[in-house]
Parts: sequence; C-alpha cells; structure tokens
Amino acid sequence: MNLVLLGPPGGGKGTQAKRLMDTFGLVQLSTGDMLRAAVSSGSEIGKKAKAVMDAGQLVSDDIVIAIIDERLDQADTQNGVIFDGFPRTVAQAEALDAMLVRKGRGLNAAIEVRVPDALLIERITGRYTCAKCGAGYHDKFQKPAKDGVCDKCGSTEFIRRADDNAETVTKRLDAYHAQTAPLLPYYEKKGILSVVDGTQDIAKVTTDLETILKSTKK
Ligand code: AP5
Ligand code: MG
Ligand code: ZN
Repeated sequence: MNLVLLGPPGGGKGTQAKRLMDTFGLVQLSTGDMLRAAVSSGSEIGKKAKAVMDAGQLVSDDIVIAIIDERLDQADTQNGVIFDGFPRTVAQAEALDAMLVRKGRGLNAAIEVRVPDALLIERITGRYTCAKCGAGYHDKFQKPAKDGVCDKCGSTEFIRRADDNAETVTKRLDAYHAQTAPLLPYYEKKGILSVVDGTQDIAKVTTDLETILKSTKK
C-alpha cells in the first residue's frame, strides 16, 4: 500500500507517518528529512537546497523527483511507503504517478491532515526532535515523559529546525496554499482523497487515519 499524506507545514504529517509505519509495515519517505540530511552532509543537492529551505520556498521539482525516484528503488520500500511532504506541486504529483506506473506500483490513498493556519505557528515554533533517533516532540503538546530525555532512545540532545521560526513559517504557509493545495482536487478527481481533522489530539488523528487505511484497497 502506498499513501500520500497531505497537509500544511506543522499539520502533523511527520508525527502521524511515524505512528503508522509499524502498524501497516510501511516506510516513511519525507523529502524534508532527506533534504535536511543532504544539507548537513554538505552534498551538491544540500548546497542548492539550503537557501531555498531557509527562505520557506520549495526546492525545485527536478531535485525532489530524482531523490524519490532513487529512493523507491531500494528494497525496503517494496511493501509500501508513506509519502510525507511529497508531492508538493502538481508537476511532482504527475511525476510520482508516472514513476509508480514505471515501477509496477500504484497509489492507494491520499489523505489530507486538515489544520487551519491559525494553529500552525504555535505547533511549529514549539517543535523539536531527538538529535540521535529523530523522535518528534513539542514544548507544549508532546513532551517526553522525563524532561530533557528522549522517550525512545534516552538521548539528552535535541535539535530545532532552522526554518521553524514565525517569519519563515508564514512563507511556508504561502507556498502550501499556492503550490500544494491544488493537489487536493488533483487526488479528489482520482477518487482516492480522504480528509482527517488534524486539530484533534495526536492519538485521535492516528485512529482516524487507521480507520481509513484499514478500508483502503491494497
Ligand atoms: P518539510 O520537512 O516537509 O516541512 P513541512 O511540510 O513544512 O512540514 P513540517 O515537517 O513542518 O510539518 P509536519 O506536518 O511534518 O508536522 P509535525 O508532525 O512535525 O519541508 C521543509 C522544507 O523542505 C520545505 O519548506 C521545502 O523548502 C523543502 N521541501 C520538502 N519537500 C519538498 C518537496 N516535495 N518539494 C519541494 N521542496 C520540498 O508536527 C509539528 C509539531 O506539532 C510537532 O512538534 C508535533 O509534536 C506537534 N503536533 C503534531 N500533531 C499534533 C496534534 N494533533 N496536536 C498538537 N500538536 C501536534
Ligand atoms: Mg515533517
Ligand atoms: Zn531519541
């Protein structure tokens, strides 16, 4: 089963993708995470992407399409993937459709995690992740059980994203509405779009997603 999670910056795509992976045996493919890894490694792609990401704009379609194309050739994606933050433009969605056909696979569902803009700034400015294992947290909404210690791996080091400031968030929201929101009618026309209410607590959003996925044709 291959699934696209759609939704605004800070909407909960990454949080939910991680919670769904084990239950459904899927792999999370986050182009944001892949690009951040490229930036920290100092690769050519990373050098091109850094300024664009810091400005809250979208990296070029060619770059992200190539990253996904290559990643889908790795064996761990065979059982199915959760696309998180990809596609983000109609051109990327068309490229994904073509790529999946070429690889003998298909897309089973696209789910919008819907959250109004007003809630997103607080979610994003409070977000941090474990530097060692990548587990996601929030200053107010998702604290570790023991202050300053990662629940998953016990690490005491955490990181915050360079683009998680109030100014850049506004630009990322603009990019979402102008370039990514057109994917909602794109997938609706294909008959595979569902919507979950992303303003509910994290566990309830997961339950709603699970309900949709259980009734999705493999
Ligand atoms: P990317 O990393 O994809 O960022 P994004 O789309 O802006 O989404 P986020 O990761 O900010 O949000 P999320 O929905 O994953 O929220 P999360 O679960 O963390 O992309 C970054 C940049 O890379 C882009 O701006 C662009 O430049 C580039 N890029 C990436 N992909 C690209 C592509 N395909 N094409 C071109 N450019 C691309 O949740 C947020 C916080 O809220 C967390 O702290 C969490 O604990 C908390 N939270 C989550 N759910 C809830 C809830 N239900 N209630 C309360 N708190 C919650
Ligand atoms: Mg994310
Ligand atoms: Zn950790």
